[in-house]
Amino acid sequence: MDRLTTHTAGTLFGLHGEPAHERIVVASDAASGLQAVIAVYSTALGPAFGGCRYWQYASDYEAYHDALRLSQGMAFKNALAGLPFGGGKAVILRCPESLDRTELFKAFGRLVHSLNGIYITAEDVGTTSDDMRAVQSETSWVSGIPRADEAYGGNPSPRTAYGVFVGLKAAVQVALGRDTLDGVSVAVQGLGSVGWDLCERLHQAGAQLIVADIDAGRTTRARELFGAQVADVGRIAGVHADVFAPCALGGSITETVAAQCHFKVIAGGANNQLLSLDNGDTLQRRGIFYAPDFLVNAGGIISCVREYLGATDAQAVLDEVALIGPRVLELADRVRVTGVAPGRAAVAWAQEKMAAV
Ligand code: NAI
Repeated sequence: MDRLTTHTAGTLFGLHGEPAHERIVVASDAASGLQAVIAVYSTALGPAFGGCRYWQYASDYEAYHDALRLSQGMAFKNALAGLPFGGGKAVILRCPESLDRTELFKAFGRLVHSLNGIYITAEDVGTTSDDMRAVQSETSWVSGIPRADEAYGGNPSPRTAYGVFVGLKAAVQVALGRDTLDGVSVAVQGLGSVGWDLCERLHQAGAQLIVADIDAGRTTRARELFGAQVADVGRIAGVHADVFAPCALGGSITETVAAQCHFKVIAGGANNQLLSLDNGDTLQRRGIFYAPDFLVNAGGIISCVREYLGATDAQAVLDEVALIGPRVLELADRVRVTGVAPGRAAVAWAQEKMAAV
């Protein structure tokens, strides 16, 4: 899970030094075993839209603050992606496997429904389209479900990976002045839904891959299919490569990593990659271009939002995701003009958009 430090954690009502969240709901349901937190950071741009994470946390406190941080990230992500939605996120504390998963997600669906549409949910780490179907049996405020008709929908991960790919490519253009990824070395941390799809795209584009995953089967397959070099899980952030793409969980850019890593670009799918914005300042001082996670990993939420709004044209959704590339270039221009590190510049940009309504 995203490792928390005192300055990134918060109070019962929000994150330290940030505006209070609009709504935070802590709920339990004895019959199903559900224990969940729904955090709504902002509805300034519309109902809060963001996925539901199903995860085993070290403590209830960590689950609570993960929901707070992730929901703020969703508000920034949705604003920068130009979506008419605010930011929220749900966290369900992982239950013993003996409990009925369908009943658990139905109970979660009833919880979402009780919020009267201020929060719309979808998949995140640990949840599946089947879970969202169970949610859908209790509420219509849900997305990320394959459709029987011709309408667009389903697992958002491929769109997330596509967005990360175009964002990474733009970041390479900014930092290395190269228009292609041919021969560019990329260290990918995490070969799950997003990381694996990203590796396929990078391999096709001629990039040299270095990969790490706690699942050795995935790294072995990456070596066989992509000729990837395999790094130890604990050492991937220390390898020599042009690009680092964190695609596991958050918090991989600690101050030590920021101060010592050998990359020129950081661009990946994981949420909350920086432990704090200060780590982004360190990267900036060292001339490393960080493409903020909430800018480049927006493909999944764009997909879920378009599904929710009834899109039928899959190519139009991909075209919208591709706009992440030009947005990275625009952010780089802002960074050049202001001298502010990309993480902070992207937050300021998102806040401008949220304040404009
Ligand atoms: P996933 O659960 O499919 O994949 C995560 C992968 O990371 C797994 O292969 C796992 O074995 C590996 N992993 C876990 N801990 C690791 C470690 N310490 N070192 C190396 N590998 C490790 O998750 P998914 O869907 O690919 O998401 C990855 C990240 O992208 C998450 O942070 C998620 O919040 C973020 N994200 C995902 C979106 C999506 O559409 N799936 C959308 C936006 C963000």
